[in-house]
Amino acid sequence: MCGIVGYIGKRDVAPLLLEGLQRLEYRGYDSAGIVITSPKASGLKMVKAKGRVRDLEAKVPKRFAGTTGIAHTRWATHGAPSDENAHPHLDAEGKVAVVHNGIIDNATELRAKLVADGVEFLSETDTEVLVHLVARSQAVTLEEKVREALRHVEGTYGVAVMHADFSDRIVVARNGSPVVLGIGEKEMFVASDIAALVSHTRQIVTLEDGEMATLKADDFRTYTTEGSRTTATPTTVEWEAESYDMGGHDTYMHKEISEQADAVDRVLRGRIDDRFSTVHLGGLNLDAREARGIRRVKILGCGTSYHAGMIGAQLIEELARIPADAEPASEFRYRNPVVDPDTLYVAVSQSGETYDVLAAVQELKRKGARVLGVVNVVGSAIAREADGGMYVHAGPEVCVVSTKCFTNTVVAFALLALHLGRIRDLSVSDGKRLIEGLRKLPAQIAEILKTEDEIKKIAEEYAGAQSMMFIGRVRGYPVALEASLKLKEISYIHAEAYPASELKHGPLALIEPALPTVAIVPDDELLEKNRAALEEIKARSGRILAVAHREQEKADHTIVVPKNETELDPILMGIPLQLLAYHTALAMGRDIDKPRNLAKSVTVE
Ligand code: G6P
Repeated sequence: MCGIVGYIGKRDVAPLLLEGLQRLEYRGYDSAGIVITSPKASGLKMVKAKGRVRDLEAKVPKRFAGTTGIAHTRWATHGAPSDENAHPHLDAEGKVAVVHNGIIDNATELRAKLVADGVEFLSETDTEVLVHLVARSQAVTLEEKVREALRHVEGTYGVAVMHADFSDRIVVARNGSPVVLGIGEKEMFVASDIAALVSHTRQIVTLEDGEMATLKADDFRTYTTEGSRTTATPTTVEWEAESYDMGGHDTYMHKEISEQADAVDRVLRGRIDDRFSTVHLGGLNLDAREARGIRRVKILGCGTSYHAGMIGAQLIEELARIPADAEPASEFRYRNPVVDPDTLYVAVSQSGETYDVLAAVQELKRKGARVLGVVNVVGSAIAREADGGMYVHAGPEVCVVSTKCFTNTVVAFALLALHLGRIRDLSVSDGKRLIEGLRKLPAQIAEILKTEDEIKKIAEEYAGAQSMMFIGRVRGYPVALEASLKLKEISYIHAEAYPASELKHGPLALIEPALPTVAIVPDDELLEKNRAALEEIKARSGRILAVAHREQEKADHTIVVPKNETELDPILMGIPLQLLAYHTALAMGRDIDKPRNLAKSVTVE
């Protein structure tokens, strides 16, 4: 979704901002723009372009010097992608420039008032009202002008504002959309995502909702939207700038799939306690007595994170014997759910920014619930809002679709389930068995990744399919759901996922040679039932690809994955299907890292 990057210092700003925008490309966007000035300049210089950052770069004139600037990648909400609707937006005099992430809910109302006062709008965006409000403010300082403008605004924002009459500063504000300051040597950066900052500085300050900041070349200060000073404590970002590079792979997705053995190793590191056959999860902020008092677990997430949550719920129910389920956060927050004090709520999000998840967390907290976060991005909004939680330590994930983060999240849930289980009724020997299983995962993942060529061949065979069916039973069902989501997201092949048990209650009608089925067939207590489903499909001449622990004779192809402890099998069974989706999309010539219409972090409703 939309991205912001800004700089004030001594360096030539345009190349810096363009590089920053490139680092934000992964979030998904449709247009981009940049505005710059310098202390000596007489005004603002702006360039905007529909399309990619490279299209913007091509439009930037040779002489485009400046040392202060803000830039933006836009993901259209109000008004189609176009040069006019791209940010920054300027007032009529060209003195005020604004870039904005989020949505101004009362934009229509504000626009009508401004139009009645004679203001001419140049774009269809909600953001433009903010520009005119700042420009019309009679306040003396830029900070006051912005504060006054924001007072009229309802909705979410991360904004950065420049003013030709105040060219020594950038004023930023946050309400619901991330704003991160980067502290350099006699220079300051701002961005909506640390990805745009890490190649310049690792010292960052994350603004809270309701906070603003003034950035000057040699200092910055933070304060509330009411004007009282706040203390900003800089933190050091762990992620290296190189982890955002492609590192010899053709796509980020391929790189991230390939990194999973190391990523899983990281989520386990330092957490296993062999003495008590359990795991340490220091950040949960949940003591043993409280953990024993939990009567239900409700997991909330969106997209792939929701699927990881479904596997998590099964693990918790199976290992800790606490009733658990997962629900899309986007649904949960709109259905006025009963919030129960004995339920542990767990919010899952790779980015820690997804608006629907954040809003669900805020609603739960308002109602007094205890919420844990299972999050990848350290210090992100959901991580900060939650009462405690676990980081999944997958490292930066750049491809829009999630792979390594999904796997790490599921492993994190296995740790949580084991931890809760060992506080309750899971035996020492089961604890030990599962720990051994967890330790085997990285090597088993590496083994699966070695079968890529074989999976590629199968994928090329399926690449022409109009539609595909994915089936799995109990532990295999969320794996099927996630695999079908992955395939549709990047190949645009229509895919359905069904519990294998439901096949004969409807979807069997679809089975014919042209509709291939991918079946998750683990060697568990349901093996014979799954085999019966394969028979049913074969009897209707359906083609079958099985992901199993041994060759399935009814299947046309079997991808054999290493066996682990039954409870942990779903972690491994999803991995070959990431490669299947990848190679299918590749064979179809798709833009794998940036699938159409999708964004990495959906920060609006
Ligand atoms: C977007 C992405 C999905 C992702 C979902 C949740 O829709 O396109 O790939 O699974 O957001 O993201 P989160 O950062 O909360 O895990």
